[in-house]
Amino acid sequence: MTAHILRARGLTRRFVAHKPLFGAPSVVQAVNGVDLDIVEGETFAIVGESGCGKSTLARLLSHLIEASEGTVVYDGRDISALTGAELRDLRREMQFIFQDPFSSLNPRMTVGALIGEPLRIHRIGTAPERRAKVAELLGKVGLRPEHADRYPHEFSGGQRQRIGIARALATAPRVVIGDEPVSALDVSIQAQVVNILEDLKDEFGLTLIVIAHDLAVIRHIADRVAVMYLGEIVELGDAAEVFAAPRHPYTEALLSAIPIPATGARKVQTKIEGDPPNPISPPPGCRFHTRCPYVQDVCRTDRPRLADIGGGRQAACHFARDLSLDGIRTDDRPRPAAVADRFARYSAARAGMTANAQHQARQTEE
Ligand SMILES: Nc1ncnc2c1ncn2[C@@H]1O[C@H](COP(=O)(O)OP(=O)(O)O)[C@@H](O)[C@H]1O
Ligand code: SF4
Ligand SMILES: [Mg+2]
Repeated sequence: MTAHILRARGLTRRFVAHKPLFGAPSVVQAVNGVDLDIVEGETFAIVGESGCGKSTLARLLSHLIEASEGTVVYDGRDISALTGAELRDLRREMQFIFQDPFSSLNPRMTVGALIGEPLRIHRIGTAPERRAKVAELLGKVGLRPEHADRYPHEFSGGQRQRIGIARALATAPRVVIGDEPVSALDVSIQAQVVNILEDLKDEFGLTLIVIAHDLAVIRHIADRVAVMYLGEIVELGDAAEVFAAPRHPYTEALLSAIPIPATGARKVQTKIEGDPPNPISPPPGCRFHTRCPYVQDVCRTDRPRLADIGGGRQAACHFARDLSLDGIRTDDRPRPAAVADRFARYSAARAGMTANAQHQARQTEE
């Protein structure tokens, strides 16, 4: 049986976007009825244009914000019911890497203090153990131990994001969520950071959830991908298969915007006109119908639901089985080979941290 580390059902989050003096407030459905099963050890990508609800979904999955409706089950437990020690465990086991390495790192703290902070907060290890852990983590992300004494402004964007990664890994998390982790970086640096993330994911046996607004970033690392549009998942499946043969017109449009590196040429771009509609008043019928090149009358009135279309693929389009859509070929990258090995290393790492935590607890008692 596949182990699902995270399961979401009917996950919905509304925000009040505008509260007028008189009349009803306008409400944004940032995330609307999302069902999701994340497999332990996979790299799961969430993609879609800015404003489609990716960050809100990530914050819901990690219980940084409350859901308006729906549930999230983490490792068999409903996260909305967690309190005290269990909630602290969740915070320790699920870590974030944010988009902007410039604003997410406190400029007044040294790099060592920044990376060691989660260890202090969660009372993991003694001070010397924490220093050793910081030095080890710096090495893992390709920085040097002496960098611990410097400040974030002394580093480039790519290096700062490495610091963000080291910080996220400090507590030996099980799940790392990268919310547009390379969007703020130069294209030349993006691949380096993505590669580090992928290597460390294997080494630590992490489940990685990567959010991106375009598909290019996740092309080489995602096992599965969910495509979001206006707060909903419109397509979900094995990443290589979704890339090769998308089943939703919106996915095709996103794919058509990816430059083909070999030739530098772009495919003929599938036209999606204009900006996404206002999420306060999404269109009736198919939410994508105002921009879809394949729109039919039925699309303007009948809402297509996300449905299984075989092969583990889901799509929310009336014509998902009929349309012949253009994909792109991805390299046949070998799948993370030794999942068992990955978990063994991961367990060892966690056991080590736990031993440190016990040691610390004993010291505090004495
Ligand atoms: N705290 C908030 N208050 C009001 N609206 C919000 C809030 N957070 C997000 N939104 C709205 O919810 C929608 C989804 O936002 P977000 O999850 O940040 O999208 P993405 O990460 O895909 O860019 C947007 O319309 C955004 O304006
Ligand atoms: S349901 Fe219709 S409008 Fe929506 S994506 Fe499919 S073809 Fe396009
Ligand atoms: Mg976002």
